[in-house]
Amino acid sequence: MADGESIESLLHEGRLFPPPDAVRAGAEVRSLDQWREVHARSLADPEGYWAEEAGRLEWFRTWDRVLEWAPPDARWFAGATTNLCHNCVDRHAAGPRADAAAILWEGEPIGPDGPEVRRVSFADLRRETARLGAVLKSLGVRKGDIVTIYMPMVPELAIAMLACARIGAAHSVIFGGFSASAIADRVADAGSRVILTADGGWRRGKIVPLKENVDAACVTLAGAGVRVEHVVVLERCGNPVAWHHAPEASHGDKRDHWWHDLMRAAPDDGACEPMDSEALLFVLYTSGSTGKPKGILHTTGGYMTHVATTARVVFDLDAARGDVFWCTADCGWVTGHSYVVYGALCNGVTTVMYEGAPDAPTPGRFWEIVERHGVTQFYTAPTAIRAFMKWGEEHPRKSDLRSLRVLGTVGEPINPEAWMWYHRAIGAERCPIVDTWWQTETGGHMITPLPGATPTKPGSCTLPFFGVDAAIVNEQGREMPANQGGLLAIRRPWPGMLRGVLNDRERFVQTYWSRIKGPDGEPYYFAGDGARRDEDGYFWIMGRVDDVINVSGHRLGTMEVESALVSHPAVAEAAVVSMPHEIKGAGIAAFVTLREGAGVSADEALRETLRSHVVKEIGAIARPDVVRFTKSLPKTRSGKIMRRLLRAIAEGREHVGDTTTLEDYAVLAKLRESDEG
Ligand code: WTA
Repeated sequence: MADGESIESLLHEGRLFPPPDAVRAGAEVRSLDQWREVHARSLADPEGYWAEEAGRLEWFRTWDRVLEWAPPDARWFAGATTNLCHNCVDRHAAGPRADAAAILWEGEPIGPDGPEVRRVSFADLRRETARLGAVLKSLGVRKGDIVTIYMPMVPELAIAMLACARIGAAHSVIFGGFSASAIADRVADAGSRVILTADGGWRRGKIVPLKENVDAACVTLAGAGVRVEHVVVLERCGNPVAWHHAPEASHGDKRDHWWHDLMRAAPDDGACEPMDSEALLFVLYTSGSTGKPKGILHTTGGYMTHVATTARVVFDLDAARGDVFWCTADCGWVTGHSYVVYGALCNGVTTVMYEGAPDAPTPGRFWEIVERHGVTQFYTAPTAIRAFMKWGEEHPRKSDLRSLRVLGTVGEPINPEAWMWYHRAIGAERCPIVDTWWQTETGGHMITPLPGATPTKPGSCTLPFFGVDAAIVNEQGREMPANQGGLLAIRRPWPGMLRGVLNDRERFVQTYWSRIKGPDGEPYYFAGDGARRDEDGYFWIMGRVDDVINVSGHRLGTMEVESALVSHPAVAEAAVVSMPHEIKGAGIAAFVTLREGAGVSADEALRETLRSHVVKEIGAIARPDVVRFTKSLPKTRSGKIMRRLLRAIAEGREHVGDTTTLEDYAVLAKLRESDEG
């Protein structure tokens, strides 16, 4: 966009919530002034800042240089060696935290004696990761190989990731909701010869047939000439599984193995392999706006420093205080990598894992888990919060949530209405909310409040983290004035940044480093999000740049119109997209789901009420031309609304007679996405 073509911002949110005194008193950063001082120092000398943070972790050999930057290639802590499993596990297993809980896990099914609960200590984790590491080596896994992990949310999933890190193999975790063809694509791209899986996993009372999906993927792969040598199967649900061996397989040459058989004989004394700071730690596939998924690459030392620091400072984690951290993300997403596993454990803090759905068997399940385990920090996604709102406040009210100290959100812009509900119904107006903006590509938090320092505004991810040089710029790389929307860019390298896209250098350079350049021609990182900064320097994410709607020459972000709709009491969730309009060029189509028990009918009168409500909230320019009611919205597996599909419907490229059947579209979309990635 050239100057004067900025994304217009119409939403005005005036509420301000200072950090509660109780949290401020115990936090590392205790005031906005202190934040300003540390932030200024960290930008004057980012390398000094990150080196100091890296110094809190253990390295086998220290670095020669903190950063080597040959845009777009960064090497952090060049020359150093370390091991992430050592920092997450062995370091704590060798100290006073040895018998403390590293993982507190709950399975989904609830039996007569309550749910299945497991407590895994740091000492247990050391032993189990050493044994699984030895198993992987015995199957021929070498340093640098990529092991595919396709498992339910059980402790063995975290053990698998850590065991890979322990022996210097990289992992590629595939979310358990993906289909066989998605597995096949990713295994082929990563060249994995070993897959770790389970017979099944529990999800809303049903067994997800993981092993069956792996078998189907292996058939597809064999057809393409790719041979998976070993499949290691954890027994979780006891569902029957087929067992596969090549006809000629000798004893040591079998493909399928039970996890427990291999583990039984494995030694538990293997040490952590010293790894170069820039050694590949994992590849994680993320769907682009079109086409095949990208394998985002993350390496060891910088990523470790970034996630350990942000987990500690942003969630106010403290092992000595006995914190119990619960991030509800699945390990199949980056949030699960960076905060369920690496961020929490690096800080020696107990991490909670839950296998199943939030409404299994009742919509109160999450709150029962918070009470049962005394969760102190709770981190979830706006899509989940909107579901809780829809189910009603009576569910959290049944549990004692007084252990909670800090709440977090990630994944999408959070509508101010959902923020306020989270603040009131879950946080009892005494827990700060950290709305953390980041991406699979950034590795860790980039823009976020600090719970004891930053006054929060509902819907804003507030201020950049230390050492992060975030800005709103135009296509020419010039910074936009306050309150004018533009492109969100990161102007300097940061330690958790992606190091590439697997097997696709061109895509790495084109997608992230070619769109925006600074005054001296240096490439800025282009995040793909539209955003603005307000007069206090706070960031407001307006949605993906690809989703911007251009009404009569006014460029509107999707987020603000959606927030206006959700602020109406009848509305649970909304998605807006552009549609062709004879006069305005583009019009606005809104897809709306209604709150349960709101006692309204989805009729023309309500449509008109909602149109007027948007006009009142943000102005006539944003008045939706079309309002369609639907029971649910099509979402990606990680809960992001699929606006691409809605656009096709709004433009008449995809036909749905009655929009109440959009639910079928949700299913269709999910199937599609799993095939495309
Ligand atoms: C969006 C998830 C607004 C954004 C860690 C980003 C957000 C994309 C926020 C990355 C937030 C994430 N506020 N938008 N707090 N957090 N997003 O790769 O569009 O699954 O670019 O990483 O989610 O999604 P990803």
